Amino acid sequence: MLIAIDGPAASGKGTLARRLATHYGLRHLDTGLSFRAVGAALLAAGVALDDEEAAIAVAETVDLEDLDRDRLNAHGIGEAASRVATMPALRAALVARQRAFAQGGGGDGAVLDGRDIGTVVLPDAVAKLFVTADPATRARRRAAEIRQRGGTACDTDILADLVRRDRRDSDRAVAPLKPADDAYLLDTTGMDIETAFSAAVEIVERAKAGRM
Ligand code: C5P
Repeated sequence: MLIAIDGPAASGKGTLARRLATHYGLRHLDTGLSFRAVGAALLAAGVALDDEEAAIAVAETVDLEDLDRDRLNAHGIGEAASRVATMPALRAALVARQRAFAQGGGGDGAVLDGRDIGTVVLPDAVAKLFVTADPATRARRRAAEIRQRGGTACDTDILADLVRRDRRDSDRAVAPLKPADDAYLLDTTGMDIETAFSAAVEIVERAKAGRM
């Protein structure tokens, strides 16, 4: 059972993907973290973010089972991830590894979340969700998350960063951020996590039953 969850930055897709994975007893991969791992490694090595060869070398060796969410989720790394994510050969290298993850673990299935899961990585997923929320809501949630981890965050700066990143992700030539034709749109603006989770489970159940 493969479940594809896509959506823009800070839409809540990661939380929903984790909750769905627990609910259905499936493995979960936050594919954003794989792009973040590549961006962070290039930054740490002082390598240019458009050095595709160096990026691919990282993509081929990074351990998808052991991505350090706390370290990689730092706000600044999102920008580096979004820049490396425009390189087609780097994407191909990561997509191959993401698909291998999805097929692994005994083949029971997996939940993957990202930007191109329903369109490129898992086009045959049984359920596809495209999770959105209005930009101000997403910025507020991301800022709250940063503060909760002890950092400081300004909603207005975060909003500007998210909008810039969404634009780059939506405008890129390869695997842009967009809903698959057969994705179900879930707008979580004004929903708390429990409401969004219930809605997501209902969508997956309907998709499984072939009623979408
Ligand atoms: O989801 P997250 O915000 O961690 O993703 C960081 C960046 O990685 C995104 O802005 C996007 O450019 C890139 N990404 C992608 N395709 C995915 C997941 C993430 O291009 N499947």
